[in-house]
Amino acid sequence: MDQLLINGLNVNYGPNRIIKNIKLKIKSRELVAIVGPSGCGKSTLLSAIVGLAQPVSGSIVMGDKILYSSMENINIAVEKRNIGYVFQSYALWPHLTVYNNLAFPLQVRKLKRQAIAKAVQFQLQKLDLVGKEHKYPHQLSGGEKQRVALGRSLIVRPSLLLLDEPLANIDASLKNVLLGELKSVQQELGITMLYVTHDQNEAFEIADQLAVMGAGEIRQIDTPQKLYTNPNSLFVAQFIGRNNIFVGQEVNKLRFCPRIRRQSNTTFTAVGIRPEDIIISETGLYTGTIKKVIYHAGRVQHTISISDAELLADGDFNGAHQVGQTVRFNIQRYHYIN
Ligand SMILES: Nc1ncnc2c1ncn2[C@@H]1O[C@H](COP(=O)(O)OP(=O)(O)OP(=O)(O)O)[C@@H](O)[C@H]1O
Ligand SMILES: [Mg+2]
Repeated sequence: MDQLLINGLNVNYGPNRIIKNIKLKIKSRELVAIVGPSGCGKSTLLSAIVGLAQPVSGSIVMGDKILYSSMENINIAVEKRNIGYVFQSYALWPHLTVYNNLAFPLQVRKLKRQAIAKAVQFQLQKLDLVGKEHKYPHQLSGGEKQRVALGRSLIVRPSLLLLDEPLANIDASLKNVLLGELKSVQQELGITMLYVTHDQNEAFEIADQLAVMGAGEIRQIDTPQKLYTNPNSLFVAQFIGRNNIFVGQEVNKLRFCPRIRRQSNTTFTAVGIRPEDIIISETGLYTGTIKKVIYHAGRVQHTISISDAELLADGDFNGAHQVGQTVRFNIQRYHYIN
């Protein structure tokens, strides 16, 4: 329920600065997803919010409660922060069954046995774990462990929930179901949520705001749509989605499309064209040759070669073109990157 406000946060591991001057606001009931290359500091940021990693400076405020402030010398203990946290490595209690892993946070809070049983049953059903309640973590698959970890953090109905790759080991069809569940639980209970994922599709589907991290910094935060259409830097343009990017002088490779350069009287670093904005059609203005065809679920990606440029272009799965074929195409949209 509470909003989260992070200001000027710095975290070191040994001599290395891992989190660099991070400023982040998550409004009450909002879901912010974080994506970024491996090792950029996503898990470290969550650890600092929950109180497991010690920052060197900055502040973390949840609702009207200061969790950490270097200026005011405040550092609330982990167990007093009341934040739900699903670790990247699940961190289940190995000596407890699924049932007791789920029940534990409620037992600690001294709820009545019946109330606990009811809450555990509810989570078991929601997370498709019915029949597994008497198993121990080592008897579960990676995806099942992850679902237990998710259930354990949801069962206490936290006002802030931090999730670190909660669906990483779950197969695509169940992932879709759980992602939908997670979003509806978040909305129903009004949980403020910070969600770290490697999977951009997941992030796009679930996030109100999407943050892209690189080397310990938040490089851009926006709605997923804005981030996709208006990346603020080459880093974000390259990281989010697929993109045909022409940096600096490489833009000359697009001279077959003079419109692109004519409009570029301002300085820019690069030009990006999304593969879905290259439309192959018999009435297209430009002519190229198909170099490569890759099939994905439900779509096909062509590589078109034209003079000295190569362009990824999406196509109709059922109307895919052949390698070597000549095709006509249009560039429907492109963006300048600063
Ligand atoms: N306990 C630790 N001690 C020292 N260095 C650490 C520790 N934990 C992480 N690091 C380093 O901090 C950096 C950021 O790690 P972090 O786990 O936050 O990355 P990440 O963005 O979560 O990556 P991934 O996507 O692979 O999970 C890495 O360079 C990592 O090696
Ligand atoms: Mg991580």
